[in-house]
Amino acid sequence: MPTHVTLIPGDGIGPGITDATVRILDAAGCDFIYDRQVAGLAGVSAVNDPMPEATLASIRRTRLALKGPLETPVGGGYRSVNVALRKTFDLYANVRPAKTVRPGGRYDNVDIVLIRENTEGLYIGIEHYVPIAGDPKAAAESVALITRAGSERIIRYAFEYAVSHKRKKVTLVHKANILKFSSGLFLDVGREIAKEYAGRVECDDRIIDACAMQLVMKPEIFDVIVTTNLFGDILSDEISGLVGGLGLAPGANIGAGAALFEAVHGTAPDIAGKGVANPGALVLAACMMLDHLGDNERAGRIRNALTKVIREGKTLTRDLGGTANTDQFTDAIIAAL
Ligand code: NAI
Repeated sequence: MPTHVTLIPGDGIGPGITDATVRILDAAGCDFIYDRQVAGLAGVSAVNDPMPEATLASIRRTRLALKGPLETPVGGGYRSVNVALRKTFDLYANVRPAKTVRPGGRYDNVDIVLIRENTEGLYIGIEHYVPIAGDPKAAAESVALITRAGSERIIRYAFEYAVSHKRKKVTLVHKANILKFSSGLFLDVGREIAKEYAGRVECDDRIIDACAMQLVMKPEIFDVIVTTNLFGDILSDEISGLVGGLGLAPGANIGAGAALFEAVHGTAPDIAGKGVANPGALVLAACMMLDHLGDNERAGRIRNALTKVIREGKTLTRDLGGTANTDQFTDAIIAAL
């Protein structure tokens, strides 16, 4: 039975890296039926809506989406469609692996999976200005909402992920020394859940600032990290930097009723339209989608082909230190398949 997937090519470099990814999936013999939909700026251009109803209806039907990056205007304009999609489908777990692909870089043995809570914290969008003495923007307040239920499900997800992926340790990352209530609740819940996994999965906890430093000093001490929304957003870019940058960093957004796979990077406006973007992150996101569907064999083959091309070092995109364009890099992966 072919699997139906909502395909959102997205903005900027999105359509180019999406085409490359689909070519690689086809070459690996994947039997997907793609339902192409728009969102973000492409949605505004096509139907004057950054999150069109047709796109939402498609994801409701397929419960599976592969998505290119979407442009979010800074400051004013529409709110992040990425955040809205996570909210709409309650995609509470954001899973971002970072693994060394090419030895000989600054770090040879990074193998970290960051699990970020995706629906709570400072990103819930409850914020307002406080007018004082005639200044309408004298102060601004943003609410960081942490719930016991939300913390429980993400922390449990992290421990279950560790068990099913044969990982040894889960690190709870927080700022409970300062944010005693919100971060404190997350940490308390984490320590309780850790007891259930004692003997199967180790658990420790670290304060976010110390964690950020230790990731740079000794990334090999980390295995699975679970943290709240804002800290997870920042740390996931940091860990992608440990393994060669955003061009190879995939992400999955998992909920009870749908799963959405994407690259961690954005629309890369500086190189958009030049045909030189690295499709690797979206290709690895597609591999996570295959794993999610239980097709570990094809996921493994595609990962191996990508790793081989990168380790050979002959056909690399510019961000990886080469001169190849998106098509040439994609062709090399298909040849390696
Ligand atoms: P960005 O990730 O688009 O770019 C940062 C730097 O990394 C740029 O120099 C870019 O050329 C490079 N880069 C990113 N992906 C690359 C790739 N595949 N190959 C080669 N080089 C790559 O971040 P930026 O500039 O902060 O954001 C641009 C836009 O993307 C904004 O509108 C932002 O809101 C959006 N964005 C969307 C995301 C999503 O849809 N998941 C995630 C992050 C940002």
